Amino acid sequence: MNQHPAHSYEPRRVILASHREASAHVAELFASTIEQSPQTVLGLATGSTPIECYNDLIRRHEQGSLSFASVTTFNLDEYVGLAGDHPQSFRHFMQTHLFDHVDIDPARAHVPNGVAEDLNKHANEYDLAIRKAGGIDLQLLGIGHNGHIAFNEPGASADSQTRVVNLSLTTLESNSRFFNSPEKVPRRAITMGIGTILKSAKIVLLAFGEDKAKAVAGALEGPVGPQNPASWLRTHVDTTFVLDAAAASQLSDGTGI
Ligand code: PGA
Repeated sequence: MNQHPAHSYEPRRVILASHREASAHVAELFASTIEQSPQTVLGLATGSTPIECYNDLIRRHEQGSLSFASVTTFNLDEYVGLAGDHPQSFRHFMQTHLFDHVDIDPARAHVPNGVAEDLNKHANEYDLAIRKAGGIDLQLLGIGHNGHIAFNEPGASADSQTRVVNLSLTTLESNSRFFNSPEKVPRRAITMGIGTILKSAKIVLLAFGEDKAKAVAGALEGPVGPQNPASWLRTHVDTTFVLDAAAASQLSDGTGI
């Protein structure tokens, strides 16, 4: 397998003073995409990072300026073994942080099913459903402390597709804050692959805080390769990193300081 990119691009960097401004910037991008193209296909993320952005979109909907009625969404990932009504499942996160508050058609709001009978078959069908919807127009990403995007941990190849993965120790540790005890964190997840993500027409990665600065610097300025999965975004033609100053603080141009 070729781990070396045929092309390398420079992702755009948008660096704003605070996480509030960074979230508002991304919300504006999503809102204008939906307004210009009501049938757009969005890729969505979970975690603490997108919450303010989703709140902003909900506000716009409540004020009557934004409708999700014709939008299709595909979420990045889900824990294996958690049903959609489990409070720590990503389906539950999306319902409570976005879907329950807007007019999205539930049939078009896709999250991988962590309790599918045949997970491998479900993963293949998820990629197929994305293709049938016409592909993702705009994909939102966060980044893990180890550079993961979705649950593509270090070692993930550029052509990986939606599949079942084992979570790394750093991810288990970092996500244990959401569970009553570390043993309750699921050890496996179903995740879009790097190859799935790279097929999106446009990608925006949002990151805040000093604890993300090393992963961000590695992604943008380290080698492009599996050691930092977000670095694969430099093989994508239209990616933007939207950062607060703290998350940008280890970039060599000093823009985050
Ligand atoms: P966070 O997670 O938004 O909770 O920091 C991001 C990620 O791990 O991708």
